Amino acid sequence: MNDLLIIERGKESIPYHLLLLADPSRKMIDQYLNESEIFLAKSHNSIIGILALRTIGSEGEIMNVAVNESFQGKGIGSQLIQHAIKKSRDDGIKRVLIGTADTSKDQISLYQKLGFTQFDVKADFFIDNYDEPIFENGKHAKDMIMLELLI
Ligand code: COA
Repeated sequence: MNDLLIIERGKESIPYHLLLLADPSRKMIDQYLNESEIFLAKSHNSIIGILALRTIGSEGEIMNVAVNESFQGKGIGSQLIQHAIKKSRDDGIKRVLIGTADTSKDQISLYQKLGFTQFDVKADFFIDNYDEPIFENGKHAKDMIMLELLI
């Protein structure tokens, strides 16, 4: 996309409809949103993607990344993640984490393509932390797969 712009959130209101594509719990989103830097992908002045990056010490964690459904598969999510990695590196961060459901096969392969490797599994994370069961690709999400990138 030629006119794609990745910016830090300014006065724009939070596009919850995008965050909810990646995380169905508004309660969970609100827990990490206040502690996260928000990056927005914009095209023709519309927000079409979002990434929330939380930094603790020398580690960053991508808490949420989502792209408007009609723009998925065009490289925007990859660009948001690469932007967050670059920003982290510039800020002296040494390790970036990202977690996703055990049912999110496409997302896991995208993160692996970007250099992330699995280092942990948070067993029953989605059972213990979400009020409603989450189904994806016809399967019940239970564990959170944790991936890391050393930068
Ligand atoms: N549509 C297309 N590709 C998807 C996808 C989707 N819904 N989910 C994951 N992918 C993977 C594919 O493996 C694809 O690989 P390929 O290019 O070899 O076919 C790759 O991502 C495409 O990369 P890119 O175009 O940069 O991804 P994107 O702009 O679609 O952004 C997501 C990736 C996951 C952020 C986006 O698809 C999305 O918002 N999905 C819904 C929310 C979500 O699951 N967020 C992550 C929660 S951990």
